[in-house]
Amino acid sequence: MRAVQISHLDGPTAARVVDLDEPSGDDMVIIDVHAAGVAFPDVLQSRGLYQHKPELPFVPGGEAAGVVRSAPAGAHVRAGDRVAALTMLNGAMAQVIALPAAQVFKLPDVVSFEAGAGLLFNDLTVLFALTTRGKLSEGATVLVHGAAGGIGTSALRLAAPLGASRVIAVVSTEAKAEVAQAAGATDTVLAEGFRGAVAELTGGKGVDLVLDPVGGDRFTDSLRSLAPGGKLLVVGFTGGEIPTVKVNRLLLNNIDVVGVGWGAWVMSHPGELQRQWDVLEQLLASGTVPAPQPEVFALEDAADALSALENRTAAGKVVLRLLG
Ligand SMILES: NC(=O)c1ccc[n+]([C@@H]2O[C@H](COP(=O)([O-])OP(=O)(O)OC[C@H]3O[C@@H](n4cnc5c(N)ncnc54)[C@H](OP(=O)(O)O)[C@@H]3O)[C@@H](O)[C@H]2O)c1
Repeated sequence: MRAVQISHLDGPTAARVVDLDEPSGDDMVIIDVHAAGVAFPDVLQSRGLYQHKPELPFVPGGEAAGVVRSAPAGAHVRAGDRVAALTMLNGAMAQVIALPAAQVFKLPDVVSFEAGAGLLFNDLTVLFALTTRGKLSEGATVLVHGAAGGIGTSALRLAAPLGASRVIAVVSTEAKAEVAQAAGATDTVLAEGFRGAVAELTGGKGVDLVLDPVGGDRFTDSLRSLAPGGKLLVVGFTGGEIPTVKVNRLLLNNIDVVGVGWGAWVMSHPGELQRQWDVLEQLLASGTVPAPQPEVFALEDAADALSALENRTAAGKVVLRLLG
């Protein structure tokens, strides 16, 4: 089979397409992969900067979608099923993968392989962030940073169906504002000067939730953009710097900073992954939440796909086409 491989930690351009032996395992679900998601942790892993450091050489990729080739007796999926699957950390950018059945989920018919390859990681994180951690209430106003990225577009697709009445997208360029609007933003503002724009849009009231996958120097202005009782959801640090909080700000304005560590949560809460998927599957199958509209790269262009995230040119969720 063909697969993407990283054999030295020089970043996205180190990604090569190679021939590898297909995986096997009688107790595993074997999947012919049509598409694999590309996410920021893959970029960090390509430089050895992520908390999980796989042994070299490794195949990157935390999620994929495709067709079940074979499954163990008694599994909830069987040969021929269309599925999305989580490898969680790496290994998904290969034409065949083998996974325990608990990490494989039947894809609703309305979701294509390419859309399905890019939804588990982000949508389940955002679902967890907005509901379990953020306690999103009906009619809330939500501000989303990095809104044209993977986590960002997922937040734009999910926030309104989960109850938000206004979803403000923060992006770095006008082109990304278009991506954010297509994904469901009610308003878009540029990252530069976003605090003033948000104050104007909300009549000085501020927002109820900030979902922040970026961090960095915009963090304090995000806190200043919260309405009393509001929460800032810490999801990631694509901006590079990990911000610090002066806790007097929390006291003075009755606001919260809330950590969102989806992977750690599902690993430590048995049954939670399946419970989250049941909620998401219903939202997708009923059309309440639209499927993602990813930017698709060919397998041979894997290095470009990873680079698009690192150099900030990606327009929406990025996925890699493996078969078909
Ligand atoms: N906590 C969790 O459980 C969890 C789960 C999944 C992912 N994450 C994290 O969430 C973050 C986002 O992941 P993703 O896959 O959505 O990434 P992505 O698709 O690359 O999107 C990230 C966005 O960040 C913005 N950004 C601002 N400064 C940047 C910089 N210096 N370099 C690159 N991007 C920058 C970009 O938007 P603009 O150009 O518009 O600013 C970009 O669209 C990552 O840190 C990831 O590790 C966390």
